[in-house]
Amino acid sequence: MKGADILLGLQWGDEGKGKIVDVLTRDYDVVARFQGGPNAGHTLEFEGIKHVLHTIPSGIFHAKAVNIVGNGVVIDPVIFMREIDKLTPMGVHCADCLRISRKAHLILPTHRLLDAASEAAKGKNKIGSTLKGIGPTYMDKTGRNGLRVGDVELPDFMERYDALKSKHLQMMDGAEHAFDLAAAETEWHAAMDRLKSLPLADTDVLIQEAYRAGKRILAEGAQGTMLDVDFGTYPFVTSSTTTAAGACTGLGLAPNRIGEVIGIFKAYCTRVGSGPFPTELDNDLGEEIRQKGHEFGSTTGRPRRTGWLDLVALKYAVEVNGVTQLMMMKADVLSGLESLDVCTAYRYRGEEVSHLPYRLDSNLLEPVYQSLPGWSEDLTGVRHTKDLPATLESYVRFIEDYTGVPVVLVSVGPDREQTLWRR
Ligand code: GDP
Ligand code: IMO
Ligand code: MG
Repeated sequence: MKGADILLGLQWGDEGKGKIVDVLTRDYDVVARFQGGPNAGHTLEFEGIKHVLHTIPSGIFHAKAVNIVGNGVVIDPVIFMREIDKLTPMGVHCADCLRISRKAHLILPTHRLLDAASEAAKGKNKIGSTLKGIGPTYMDKTGRNGLRVGDVELPDFMERYDALKSKHLQMMDGAEHAFDLAAAETEWHAAMDRLKSLPLADTDVLIQEAYRAGKRILAEGAQGTMLDVDFGTYPFVTSSTTTAAGACTGLGLAPNRIGEVIGIFKAYCTRVGSGPFPTELDNDLGEEIRQKGHEFGSTTGRPRRTGWLDLVALKYAVEVNGVTQLMMMKADVLSGLESLDVCTAYRYRGEEVSHLPYRLDSNLLEPVYQSLPGWSEDLTGVRHTKDLPATLESYVRFIEDYTGVPVVLVSVGPDREQTLWRR
């Protein structure tokens, strides 16, 4: 058993990563976010409390675990401090159990302006960004202009901030923006003052020490494989590496230290924002799944698009990440449907293919479905896999046969308790 495992989403995000990281944390000493930022919304439910985390790892409710915000994450200090303020009354002492990488990049108020300007310029081709400034911040990182958390400890932090802000304002020269920049900056600097009193750390070194000391590390992905900047439905993706490789670069974790790669997926598919979605159900059934599954964004509240399970895309995600265990979420939402379609191939430019083509646009590609029997039982009270309907078991076996990877867990509701282990 190696020291570091990764848990990540295999679809277009919102698979239920927050819930599962919370469930798994009791077996880990360190939980670490490696990419993304406040575009993420990870929901946890236990003891009647529902909590949404954006930047803070989902292991935070377990006092014994150290939670790390890694170098690959981008941080908006205002959103970050709001998250801390919600956790404090719940008895979470972030100063004790949270470590923030000095190498993580900061999202400035002007990054959010640039995000909005970029989306406006794209018009009907907009990505549907969460408008949290994610893309422009990663652009400054790779463009070698970024401001990092550790810079706040330097005497010339304000000059560095001003230089980057000026660059942004020059880029937007003349662009209209309905945004009170001065007020946003005041709030931002106040949040930075608070952030610097939290434990900033060289988290890459911390992770390496934890590994050598035999500690168990869980890397928590944000977004999902189909939103990866290289392997997702480009350009309708986010700006980071959401796949397993991102855990190495986003934490300073060498590839040969990774043990299990746990991939999580919904029993159907959702996507929020623009971009191709081959199995989308843009009809009454799609609406029924949206309502039953409460498919509204955890960060933006936008309705999520819904559709059938896409096994071609899932298998691709399994391969790209080297997934060793699968977990299937939201099985309860499909109860009551007589039959369930699963996409097993695409008809692409007139030919049937079982790989993910370069482009997934609907004018080039049509899903080929196999119909499987559904289940009528309410699953939300089920606590043992032996009590799951036989048709659900067959659905899971079909997925295992197609992907070649075991489904170790089935989730039947948002609560910690609604979690069934198959192995
Ligand atoms: P994440 O971004 O991957 O952490 O997922 P989100 O939190 O954005 O979205 C998942 C939503 O589904 C949240 O509202 C969860 O509370 C909820 N959820 C997670 N697992 C299940 C499940 O098995 N059944 C149902 N009905 N809801 C679930
Ligand atoms: P979690 O971690 C679902 C989507 C946005 C948009 C695209 C780019 O909760 O699964 P960005 O703001 O990153 O520039 O937006 O990516 N997106 C997500 N969709 N879940 C997320 O995170 C997402 N984070 C970004 O809707 O289409
Ligand atoms: Mg989410």
